[in-house]
Amino acid sequence: MLLTARRLSKVLQLTLAVIKPDAVAHPVMLEALHQRILDNNFFIVKCKDLVWRRQDSERFYAEHSGVIWRGSWEKRLGTPALEDGRFFYQRLVEFMSSGPMRAYLLAREDAIRHWRELMGPTKVFRARYTAPESIRGQFGLTDTRNTTHGSDSIESARREIDFFFPDFCMEEWMDKEEPLFRSRQIHYDDQKQIHTLSTQS
Ligand code: RTP
Ligand code: MG
Repeated sequence: MLLTARRLSKVLQLTLAVIKPDAVAHPVMLEALHQRILDNNFFIVKCKDLVWRRQDSERFYAEHSGVIWRGSWEKRLGTPALEDGRFFYQRLVEFMSSGPMRAYLLAREDAIRHWRELMGPTKVFRARYTAPESIRGQFGLTDTRNTTHGSDSIESARREIDFFFPDFCMEEWMDKEEPLFRSRQIHYDDQKQIHTLSTQS
């Protein structure tokens, strides 16, 4: 599908979106979510199916673990000060390493905010009532099995993109490819299910 050459004015932003194991387990849901991404004017820069080991999950969600390295003497001893970790942490890391998931590197103007809006509230009960059209409102099962993840800030997007796509260089993409994506010199590749530069085909 060739996209028309209409110049968009605002610089594109990158974000990391994940389809969690509860949704990937259902091919029809996965397909619907992929289509939802396209329908909401995101460009799919990269897409990858993967399975996490438990340690990947623990590392990614370290911010929720409650483990805090307070001082250098604790680092030397190798024993962190254990705060009361968020109660859902163990449940979350177990679930996220329980089966296949799909990671997307998405581009759009204000991509971080738009993707989080599209996901809806974290808690499924709230999502169903306050944002029934949102992804979590429609497909979420529980507060843990809530279908999708999205970066919540520029800093976390950078960290999370690096976590999932370590070979991707954000600076280089912003410099060389962002202007081409923004002016739509791209097309959607049905085989690869991502957007690619028209000059590459
Ligand atoms: P996410 O990071 O997955 O995009 O979700 P979020 O920003 O909306 O929520 P966050 O507070 O970062 O929590 C990360 C994930 O932890 C699980 N969670 N379970 N009450 C609970 O049982 C609970 N609260 C959060 C969810 O899977 C959430 O997406
Ligand atoms: Mg979060």
